[in-house]
Amino acid sequence: MAPAPELAVGMMDGRDATKVMTIEASKNMAVIDMHSHFFPAMDAAYRARAEVEGLPWIRDTGGGKGFIMQGGTEFRPVDDVLWDPARRVEALDAQGIDLQILCATPIMFGYGRPAAEARDLAQRFNDEALAFCGYAPHRMKALAQVPLQDIDMACAEVSRAMATGHLGVQIGNHMGMRNLDDEGLLTFLAHCAEVGAAVLIHPWDMMARERMPKYMLPWLVAMPAETQLSILSLILSGAFERLPKSLRICFGHGGGSFAFLLGRVENAWKYRDIVRADCPRPPSTYVDRFFVDSAVFDPRALSLLIDVMGEDRVLLGSDHPFPLGEQDIGSLVLGHEGLSGAQKAKILSGNAKAFLNL
Ligand code: CO
Repeated sequence: MAPAPELAVGMMDGRDATKVMTIEASKNMAVIDMHSHFFPAMDAAYRARAEVEGLPWIRDTGGGKGFIMQGGTEFRPVDDVLWDPARRVEALDAQGIDLQILCATPIMFGYGRPAAEARDLAQRFNDEALAFCGYAPHRMKALAQVPLQDIDMACAEVSRAMATGHLGVQIGNHMGMRNLDDEGLLTFLAHCAEVGAAVLIHPWDMMARERMPKYMLPWLVAMPAETQLSILSLILSGAFERLPKSLRICFGHGGGSFAFLLGRVENAWKYRDIVRADCPRPPSTYVDRFFVDSAVFDPRALSLLIDVMGEDRVLLGSDHPFPLGEQDIGSLVLGHEGLSGAQKAKILSGNAKAFLNL
């Protein structure tokens, strides 16, 4: 289940001069970016062990550059914005971001490892996340990771994480063959609701990779499909009928294909009993049960997303600092001519406050 190495791709530069317009425009509006990633530098002992045992780690190659490594293999070239909290805050300043929510880079999940080992890694990375955010506690807050292959351990770790200062948890959108409608994963989601943990669902371990060796197709095709699969797993299984309404759950990457394909799902639900089998109400009636981020990169797509989800259900998420994230964070929302000031304020921060219970 280990992610395949990626081809070299450039990181975004948080100091890009084109940010000026966004900063000017956002001066009077609070901006919370609820989808970003970090990777702790870790100590020399961990790095040495990681190289031998195939664990993920950061190799700092100097000059602000480095690699996410998996064991001895280069997985992804990255900038120090990913692992250095001082550099991250500089980037937030340059981007005009008031508060950024950090979570693990999915290669850190350890879902393919023995559960106890993944639990130990999660605890360590979660504590490192708090230390990272501690550099500027009003600018950065964290979502935890959990050993999702063992639901009891995952519940215990999210409880521990909430007690130590995390705002919630990020999980991968599936656990091997188990989608989000898996009973164990539903138990975990219900537990998150109980302990007040916000849940970010992040696509990972993309489907059909063997058919997508080129052009970053796993990002472009499989990521939106994974997210769509996860949302429909919860809706069509009737899981939202059983999960507590207090569950705060958000799907990254604009909810993938969901908004554009909801009509297709609704039509199928209407005309085919096998689609309706476990889902008592029209799929469109469940959009008030989850959030999506705004990472859709096109004003027409954002318009549709807000139209489908409602203006209270879309929140700014950039996927910073990775190269397919929004480079000028918030510019899509701020520059959208069809949105009122009040709508922009909701998407840029108000909805994130509701999702994160801030
Ligand atoms: Co992401």
